[in-house]
Amino acid sequence: MTEKVYIFDTTLRDGEQSPGVALTVEDKLEIARQLERLGVDIIEAGFPLSSLGDFEGVTAIAKKIRGCAIAGLAHASPDAVDRCWEAVQHAAHPRIHIFLSTSDIHLMHQLRKNRDEVLEMARTMVARARGYTSDVEFSPMDASRSEPEYVFQMLEQVIAAGATTVNIPDTVGYAVPEEFGVFIRNIFEKVPNIHKAVVSVHCHNDLGLAVANSLAAVRAGARQVECCVNGIGERAGNASLEEVVMALKTRQDLFDLTTDVKTRELYRTSRLVSDLTGMSIQPNKAIVGGNAFRHQSGIHQDGILKMRETYEIMDAHDIGWPAGAEIVLGKLSGRHGFQARLEDLGYELTREELSRAFKAFKELADKKAEVDDRDLEALVADKLRTVEEVYHLDLVQVSCGSQLVPTATVRLTGPEGQILLHTATGTGPVDAAYKAIDTLVGIPNELTEFSIKAITEGIDAQGEVTVRIQHEGKTYVGRGADTDIVVASAKALMNALNRLLAIQRPADTEVRTSP
Ligand code: KIV
Ligand code: ZN
Repeated sequence: MTEKVYIFDTTLRDGEQSPGVALTVEDKLEIARQLERLGVDIIEAGFPLSSLGDFEGVTAIAKKIRGCAIAGLAHASPDAVDRCWEAVQHAAHPRIHIFLSTSDIHLMHQLRKNRDEVLEMARTMVARARGYTSDVEFSPMDASRSEPEYVFQMLEQVIAAGATTVNIPDTVGYAVPEEFGVFIRNIFEKVPNIHKAVVSVHCHNDLGLAVANSLAAVRAGARQVECCVNGIGERAGNASLEEVVMALKTRQDLFDLTTDVKTRELYRTSRLVSDLTGMSIQPNKAIVGGNAFRHQSGIHQDGILKMRETYEIMDAHDIGWPAGAEIVLGKLSGRHGFQARLEDLGYELTREELSRAFKAFKELADKKAEVDDRDLEALVADKLRTVEEVYHLDLVQVSCGSQLVPTATVRLTGPEGQILLHTATGTGPVDAAYKAIDTLVGIPNELTEFSIKAITEGIDAQGEVTVRIQHEGKTYVGRGADTDIVVASAKALMNALNRLLAIQRPADTEVRTSP
């Protein structure tokens, strides 16, 4: 029988450690629901001791998601393990994931402990976690730069103490595939009790080898891969979930392994994570990038038209790529057709959400002749995925041009329902609108990133704006879409400010110690 590779998704933990990413509890829950739909085996939902936000996120996910194991991360200390359990205990399948470094460079300069002391910490913390749950994972951090004999010794002892999964991290993305495969093979040979645990890998992408290293490890016997949607994560990111899964599926002839991932959910998961993290996907990104299934050269196009397999090793349909312009709605489309198309795309809307989305669709269809799946996704993101609004954008009106001083008037509804109105000038219409919004909301912030892209082709396309703002050293992402790019820009800033207000709570004391 074909063996299975467990997919451990760490988008909400390592992925959230990507510079500039800050997710609300609602964002995390939405991603977790989609990961459940995608069929991952384990969701690493956060690092509960690191911040109140992480604790609340892990707790909420543990309570709501029943179809996957929910893991929380803990460093090797009693309070981290206890706090992790406090959060994951609500899960149908709770897992505690403990990490502790094994490389000399970390032992000497970070932990300032000797090898025996570190072994003792690992054993006692795994045993403590086993007192809470039968599902305990242990990671010897920086394993790929550690002395192999010490890693083998550590693995043997943590398995004896109760670890059921041992995860081998290439923490700094230093390994190369052949060498990493040999390392994993040696673990199977040198650790006498290894058959009592699942061997997992966790590869970073500093040399662009995270997926290749993960696959080499799988070939050597690893049966869990830790990865992130779109390959996000600390520094250059983690192994990309969609690439690992599609490599195993497409080259089943070579690997003879399966996963439980429903690949048709990959595209949608990728879009959701990109929208909520504000991390855009490079066009040439494998599997989910905008160009992944586009053919430019005449010879290729000719081949594709004759037989798709001439130049495609995967079917875009298997990844859930929207049919794009093939299925379009317009202003004459009714509520039924609209609802049916959203359902085809996998959205389950309540009656009230459907009404809101339908109203927005009608407004859009009045401005844009053809509304395709990409427009619908942006519309759902805009109307249903926004954080609870403290300030609502009622209107933005600008005057600008080569002979005019760019001027914007903005009207907001404030937290107590009060109407707020301000007019400002700026270097351009977006700058003027942002100045007006900032004056009305009154939260000092710095705009650190502004990007805009067209959602579809054509002059009537919607513009999608993503912004990052900084306030008191933290970054907040916002996005907005509209056929008018000044309105889309204003929506994006409002989204970031509302997120800031939703995330910012006085009790949220940040004690994050990023692994
Ligand atoms: O990169 C790393 O070593 C980690 C561990 C916590 C698994 O993220
Ligand atoms: Zn990592």
